Amino acid sequence: MMVLLDVRNLTIHYMTERGVLRAVEDVSFQLEKGETMGLVGESGCGKTSIALAIMRTLPDNVCFSSGELLFDGEDILAIPAERYDQEIRWRKISMVFQGALNSFNPVLRIGFQVAEPLMQSRKISWDKARGEVARLFSMLGLPEETIWRYPHELSGGMKQRAMLAMALILRPKLVILDEPTSALDVSVQTQIMNLLKRLKRDMGLAMIFITHDITLASDICDRISVMYAGELVELGDADDVLTNPLHPYTRKLLAATPRLRGDRPPEYIPGSPPDLVNPPSGCRFHPRCPVMFDRCISVRPPMFSSGRVKVRCLLYG
Ligand SMILES: Nc1ncnc2c1ncn2[C@@H]1O[C@H](COP(=O)(O)OP(=O)(O)O)[C@@H](O)[C@H]1O
Ligand SMILES: [Mg+2]
Repeated sequence: MMVLLDVRNLTIHYMTERGVLRAVEDVSFQLEKGETMGLVGESGCGKTSIALAIMRTLPDNVCFSSGELLFDGEDILAIPAERYDQEIRWRKISMVFQGALNSFNPVLRIGFQVAEPLMQSRKISWDKARGEVARLFSMLGLPEETIWRYPHELSGGMKQRAMLAMALILRPKLVILDEPTSALDVSVQTQIMNLLKRLKRDMGLAMIFITHDITLASDICDRISVMYAGELVELGDADDVLTNPLHPYTRKLLAATPRLRGDRPPEYIPGSPPDLVNPPSGCRFHPRCPVMFDRCISVRPPMFSSGRVKVRCLLYG
């Protein structure tokens, strides 16, 4: 097994007006070279916070964080910020940020913006970088002349392809995609998903694919990690998790997805995700869980192994 990224006990708390918000609690997973892992869960469960921790771009109001992030065996949380900046970010690990479609600078040509990481890292001019950007654009299905366009001249799908180009321009080993299609129309979403599948196949990229939509994750992921309220609750091969979900939350999540169970109306998950300033005791899912029992209120379930799947639920202890 060639582990590329080893996340160990990652914990992230934010300071808010209401007190300490426990956004990510004791999250561990491994990603192998060339593998695609889906990070799935309802909005607010901590997916983006994990991604920002890996990119070392967490906001300033983080008041506590701990854990290790081993990338190629080295703890990238422990290295000096400057070295992370020069050696890791964009070069080895890059990210397509959530909701970033409109974050291009409106007055600069798209090609120039995509070339920026390249110009900076190789200390080369726009003239020299242009060819490489054009090649990457055509690989991503963007007409070459798009490099001369301004952001407002591009459709959403084209802008997302350009964002992807920026993430890939330095040929990283790992790309984090945070809800990369959620702002797009369904047909454009399909095009981007097909493009991602092709990139995965042709470039041997490892990807962390973040989505609230478990069906979308099933389309591209080798493995799936399900998060609930800041915790990882189930982790396994995509086939296992999708065909035989173990955690009551994963079951609810799948039942709430219309496309997999076409003959039945989607169920709705009763209740709402908990307030992470005052998370429930014991298992964080217990207030919404259809099969909870007494101990779930007081005991935080550890990760149990069930076959090849890991699951944080006392039913499997
Ligand atoms: N800068 C911040 N300050 C305070 N709370 C935050 C901040 N960023 C995110 N949160 C909170 O942390 C939790 C996890 O957020 P996030 O990581 O964005 O989840 P997701 O990507 O799954 O929607 C949420 O409760 C969110 O409101
Ligand atoms: Mg998010």
